[in-house]
Amino acid sequence: MIAGPSADLAQERSMNKTRILTGITTTGTPHLGNYVGAIRPAIASVSETNETFFFLADLHALIKCQDSEKVHQSTREIAATWLALGLDTTKAVFYRQSDVPEISELNWILNCFAAKGLMNRAHAYKAAVQANQDEGNDPDFGITMGLFGYPVLMAADILMFNAHQVPVGQDQIQHVEMARDIAARFNHHYGETFALPEARVDASVAVLKGLDGRKMSKSYGNTIPLFLPEKQLRKHINKIKTNLLAPGEPKDPDDSTVFQVWQAFADEEQTENMRREFASGIAWGEAKKQLFELINAELGEARERYNALLADTAAVEAVLQEGAAKARQLSIPLIQKVKEAVGIRPL
Ligand code: TRP
Repeated sequence: MIAGPSADLAQERSMNKTRILTGITTTGTPHLGNYVGAIRPAIASVSETNETFFFLADLHALIKCQDSEKVHQSTREIAATWLALGLDTTKAVFYRQSDVPEISELNWILNCFAAKGLMNRAHAYKAAVQANQDEGNDPDFGITMGLFGYPVLMAADILMFNAHQVPVGQDQIQHVEMARDIAARFNHHYGETFALPEARVDASVAVLKGLDGRKMSKSYGNTIPLFLPEKQLRKHINKIKTNLLAPGEPKDPDDSTVFQVWQAFADEEQTENMRREFASGIAWGEAKKQLFELINAELGEARERYNALLADTAAVEAVLQEGAAKARQLSIPLIQKVKEAVGIRPL
């Protein structure tokens, strides 16, 4: 007898492992905000009691970036970053989205279950329409079907592996809810097929501030790249905006980007010490020097591994291929099940 989808889901649940999955769009170079907000907690979440799936969302990258060399370079850098930071790929499944063709296949099928009206409400799409209207352009100007259907591809990423929890930033919660919606619709029509995913926004994880005090983000141009050479790292840290209080004048740690970044890298004792230093008027130059040393100590060894990995992309590629093979052990049977369910099967 062929086990139905619900039998398999039941089996997963009986194994009592939570499936955690998240994707990283391959545009740009990882920065300290990505590290603190996403990469570090993701790597820390790898354990025996859950199953973790992390992937390079290169198909998503095409929505935002049509510079071929940039997408390719970013994929290299992000893969090398996760490996350099110690992701255990014997425990986590680490792969490139485009190496799992079943995701694209599922994307199409889910497209047929995703209400257009639901997609109309997606924040990223709405923001693009709004920007067009503000500039007096046609509302559809420059908007591709890729952008419009972005949440469906994300649903395919998530549902393909029956993920239970999806760690994301605030801005992605809506997308995970859409994935849940689409899954529920499919299940309702064809019987239990997909697990219903939940977004997980970890309140204890800091949203790091950037050089200008706003959220560190590529779109604000205020980032500190993660693996800058020492000299440049020091330079960037020196550029963090401060007020004009002189050495000896007490400073408010809770109103300071330097302190906020410090906190993201320091243990409790170091944080308390720095709080006292602020109260007794530490000079900005000194606080920044100490901040550089703290960050450099945490990232120094990983930076060496990162540079070695960038010089040996064949090794990184091999790891990704192994990851894809593992991922496909799950995606191939699932897509078969889905196709069976919808009536696409041998005669
Ligand atoms: N859209 C996400 C972002 O820009 C990246 C992403 C793609 C993702 N697919 C995903 C995140 C699936 C979680 C699950 O941050």
